[in-house]
This record gives sequence, structure tokens and C-alpha cells, in this order.
Amino acid sequence: MALKNDLFLKALKGEVVERPPVWMMRQAGRYLPEFMELRKKYDFFTRCQTPEIASEITVQPIRRYGMDAAILFSDILVIPQAMGIEVQMKPDFGPYLPNPIRSQKDVANVIVPDIHETLDYVMQAITMTKEKLADEVPLIGFAGSPWTILCYCVQGQGSKNFDKAKEFCFTQPIAAHQLLQKITDTTIAYLKEKIKSGVNAVQVFDSWGGMLSPEDYQIFSWQYIQQIIDALKEEAPVIVFGKGCWFALGDMAKSGAAALGVDWTCSAKNARYLTGGNITLQGNFDPARLFSPPSEIKKMVQQMIQEFGKDRYIVNLGHGILPTVPLANAEAFIDAVKNYSS
Ligand code: CP3
Repeated sequence: MALKNDLFLKALKGEVVERPPVWMMRQAGRYLPEFMELRKKYDFFTRCQTPEIASEITVQPIRRYGMDAAILFSDILVIPQAMGIEVQMKPDFGPYLPNPIRSQKDVANVIVPDIHETLDYVMQAITMTKEKLADEVPLIGFAGSPWTILCYCVQGQGSKNFDKAKEFCFTQPIAAHQLLQKITDTTIAYLKEKIKSGVNAVQVFDSWGGMLSPEDYQIFSWQYIQQIIDALKEEAPVIVFGKGCWFALGDMAKSGAAALGVDWTCSAKNARYLTGGNITLQGNFDPARLFSPPSEIKKMVQQMIQEFGKDRYIVNLGHGILPTVPLANAEAFIDAVKNYSS
């Protein structure tokens, strides 16, 4: 059935819209009291692995604010988990992988899993979410980029510079590329299955792409993202978000991706210039700017839309929403877009 609100899909196709669509990265999460209720009762991976809970969390922000797209509640780290790498989510610490990948032998032990066997719970969560959304708004599926997943697999936890991940790539490049290829193959199979299960678009999060030099970015990140785009672009629109990756926007614009995410360190003007002006861009409000008073947020959003232009544009933050953002400020951000008039 056709979607009641297809602004987001129109923007991905580059069609003319009355106003740009809006959603927020990490919109299903800790700034919402209704999420915190569920968080008290179930640990992180239980929330991810129980379709009833994951679908509920996915629709919570839509019910509260009416964004133009939902993003499935899950995590990028379900992929290494499915590949046989233990991943824990430690409270007040974040992801922790007790047996990080550090050698050729470790890489050899990593499996490319059967998605049906390992990640069927995600597909069930998609089916349930689609029922709850009742064709109101589209649903976004996602995965981490192979490089960003490697960062966690090798570092074993979050990091300011992912030094161990980079050292692994630069000292054992053959092993690193084998691991990146295994992650890529798993991610392609996973996203294809998500599309089959009903997601309307997919986003690849390259959250740590900006850790690499422009040259190393091509070698260790971009070529694998390009494989993902090539494999998926006929099946669903692909959005690529590379945090700190403004230097790669030119290549990204020629990749077959439907849209590109931009963070707040790159101006709208520069992003349009680097991408040639024809591709849909998504971003780029500084997540910390949601601490400004609502009246100021509204003005800044209006200005941001004017700078990007209302067409070929999806309003979003430049990275995930911060957990301490007041509810009224998140609301001001969404409302400013919905009330936009040029
Ligand atoms: O966008 C959404 O609302 C959908 C849900 C979503 C989560 N993680 C839920 C989550 C998405 C899209 C992600 C992606 C993700 N996960 C990324 C890429 C996006 C980005 O922020 O760069 C990354 C790097 C991760 C890995 C990860 N998961 C980290 C570093 C952490 C701990 C720090 C943090 O931000 O909380 C997580 C945990 C996590 N994933 C939480 C949520 C709601 C918080 C844990 C909890 O509430 O118990």
C-alpha cells in the first residue's frame, strides 16, 4: 500500500516537495521518558532482540513528534555479534567486546553467517514495526560501515581515536582487508533481507570514517561502502552518512547513493559545492544546538533549510541526538520543519 506521508521518499528521489522531510539520527532512544521506562526493565540486547520491544521503541518518537520517517531500533553491533564476535553493552560504558580481533588467526575465526539463522529477530521487528506504523511513514533500516564495525571489533570498545584499529590496518593490511570483506558480505546480505522484510530505505553509518586520512579512507572504508551501494541501489534508496568525511563527498556523490549525510562541520554551501548540487543531502544541525532555547532552534532550522534549499534535502542532525536534550527542544526542531514556509 502507498504511504500516507511519502515526503522522505520523494526527497530521496529528488522530487519537488512542499517542505523537506525531517527525522533525527538516534531518534529512538534515551532522551525519551517512554524509552527510559523500557530501559529499566530490559537490558540493551534484549531490547534489540525482542521484536515486540524493538518495534515499540521504533514508533515511540513518531507517536510523540510525528517525524517523517521512522528508524528501526537496533544497533550496528548486531552484525559482529552475528559473525561470532561477543559484544556486550555495559551500562555507563558502552559497547565492550571482550575478545577483540588482533591477528590473522582471529580474522580466520570470524564467520559470514546465515542471516536467517542469526538475525531473524531483526526481520520480525521490521514486520511488527510496519504493522504499527500502518503505512503512515516510511521505515529506515541501517547498518554500520565495514570500517566503523572493524573499529569496534579491533579496538574492543569505543575510543577517541581508534588507535588499535588503525594500527591493525596499517601493520596487518591483508588481515584487515579480509575482515572488511567479511563484514561487507554480511552487511549486504543483512540489508537485502531488511529490504525484503519491508524497510523503505537503508542508511550506512560511517561514524568513524573521519578518523582516516582522505587516502586511507578510500582504501579502508569507501571501497567497501561502494560495494554495499552497488549491491543494494536497485532494491532501495541508500543513504551514506560519513561523520567527518566531507573530503569524500565528491566521490560519494558519484556512487549511486540516493542521499548523503553531512555533519555540522561542513556548511550547506560547501556540501552542495563538493557534491555538484544534484544529490539529496541530509543533515546537519549540531546535536548540541538542541540545547539552545526553542525560539532560537526554530530560527536556526529555518535558516538551515534556506541554505540547503527545500528540495533534494532531508532535515536531520549532524550526528545522533544527545540523551540530555529537553523534550521541548526536540519538538521545536521537528515543528520548525513542519511549519516551514519559503
Ligand atoms: O537511530 C535510532 O534511534 C535507532 C537506534 C540506533 C541505536 N544505535 C540504538 C542505541 C542506531 C541507529 C544506532 C547506531 C549506532 N550504534 C552507531 C552509529 C550511529 C552513531 O551514533 O554514530 C554506533 C557507533 C553505535 C554503537 C553504539 N551503540 C554505541 C557507541 C553505544 C553507546 C553510546 C551511546 O550512544 O549510547 C550504543 C548503545 C546504544 N545504541 C543505545 C541506543 C539507544 C544506548 C544504550 C541504552 O540505552 O541502553
